[in-house]
Amino acid sequence: MKLLIVKLGGSVITDKRKPFAIKHTVVKRLAKELKGVPGPLVIVHGGGSFGHPLALKYRIADGYREKDQLMGVSLTHLAMEKLNKYLIEALQKEGIPAIAFQPSACVLSSDGRIKSMELGPLRRILALGLVPVLYGDVVFDVKKGFSILSGDQLVSYLARKLGATRVVFGVDVDGVYTSCPKRNDRAELLRVITPSDVKLVASMEKDETGDVTGGMQAKVRELLELAKFGVEAEIVNAARANVLKEALRGKRGLGTIVTGGK
Ligand code: IPE
Repeated sequence: MKLLIVKLGGSVITDKRKPFAIKHTVVKRLAKELKGVPGPLVIVHGGGSFGHPLALKYRIADGYREKDQLMGVSLTHLAMEKLNKYLIEALQKEGIPAIAFQPSACVLSSDGRIKSMELGPLRRILALGLVPVLYGDVVFDVKKGFSILSGDQLVSYLARKLGATRVVFGVDVDGVYTSCPKRNDRAELLRVITPSDVKLVASMEKDETGDVTGGMQAKVRELLELAKFGVEAEIVNAARANVLKEALRGKRGLGTIVTGGK
């Protein structure tokens, strides 16, 4: 069965400028676009203005340093659950049998990278035809106590373990640029990225202020790792109507393709 994995970026479904601000109309539209995707589908969403500000405030990604961070762990996870619930309700309204799947309950990480994940229930969920909805989360870490697992790393891991045929990342720009397109009008859109572009990726600006998981550069790195295993990914603009829909129905070249070879 052809498994599709889609990541809905936090900047698409939330307004990153305001705390806990959901883009209601966008979520509703995306739920419609996700309806009718042929075959099994895994949805992963990011944190946006729900996860990142709290994770930053309590320095969750640094791991355990002091007791006060524990409330931050609790708050960050709850914020992600709230966003997840909202998304699931929007999907249900479109007739999608979505079900929450909590990463912190089934992932163990080591120094911020997934060490193991219990995938049995997820496989059953997919076999039944349900649509699991996971998210970037606080996870428990054998070295650091806890850390932040980005939705991007989760997608890359699941794509390998579950054998996805295609991965689509919905972001709020047209794809990957040479520099930040929101601040630099000379930024050029890259159509294809392969492992030979590693220097170019290293030179990309780290420009996402307040993003505890590394923004676009970290995303591309994750996808280049995945490309080595033969899974192609495409980063597309989900803020534009129907782009995600078309990408999920197999159209290529709408944004930036990250692949193992040109
Ligand atoms: C971050 O997940 C999750 C938390 C901060 C708890 P992502 O890194 O996938 O989120 P976005 O897509 O960049 O917002």
